[in-house]
Amino acid sequence: MEGGGQRLAPVAPPGQPQGEHLRLLLRRSQEAKNCAYCPYSRFPVGAALLTAGGEIFSGCNVENACYSLGMCAERAAIQKAISEGHTSFRAMAITSLLQVFPPTQTARLSSVPFSFDSDMRDHFITPCGACRQVMREFGTDWDVYLTKADGTYIVKRLEELLPLSFGPEDLKKV
Ligand code: THU
Repeated sequence: MEGGGQRLAPVAPPGQPQGEHLRLLLRRSQEAKNCAYCPYSRFPVGAALLTAGGEIFSGCNVENACYSLGMCAERAAIQKAISEGHTSFRAMAITSLLQVFPPTQTARLSSVPFSFDSDMRDHFITPCGACRQVMREFGTDWDVYLTKADGTYIVKRLEELLPLSFGPEDLKKV
């Protein structure tokens, strides 16, 4: 090794959660998913948002009989954090598994047994366009962990998820 120095473990870019912090963020998104209220789509999603100060706020999707009023997990987490005075974020983890209901089941998902949809098992959950825009409001240089059913993940910068985005700075350009 050059210079005889000690080989160091690969270092995550500054700001990215590592080790226990990352595991906790991922776990919190999985736990949030278990609270999803999604009797119409049967598609539970959980999100966990890490603030610059190290706090984690989680959210799940909350649907409504008036379909258009449904709220995504990512925005639920952001609204919780903002409401508690946090506006600077380092990362978000997102988790989902398609849960198959017994035909008559319309109750809260967490109370029912479920099986995994084979398609979703093999895919990383990705945030919808509306959520990307809401995330972007709070900067473009934070990380989003997109997970798969087996617990593996990929990480994307917000800039990658929403290139050429429109944000608060653009309002000042006119
Ligand atoms: N959903 C989320 O909560 N986050 C996403 O990134 C994608 C979609 C929710 C919205 C709705 O409750 C259900 O998943 C199906 O679209």
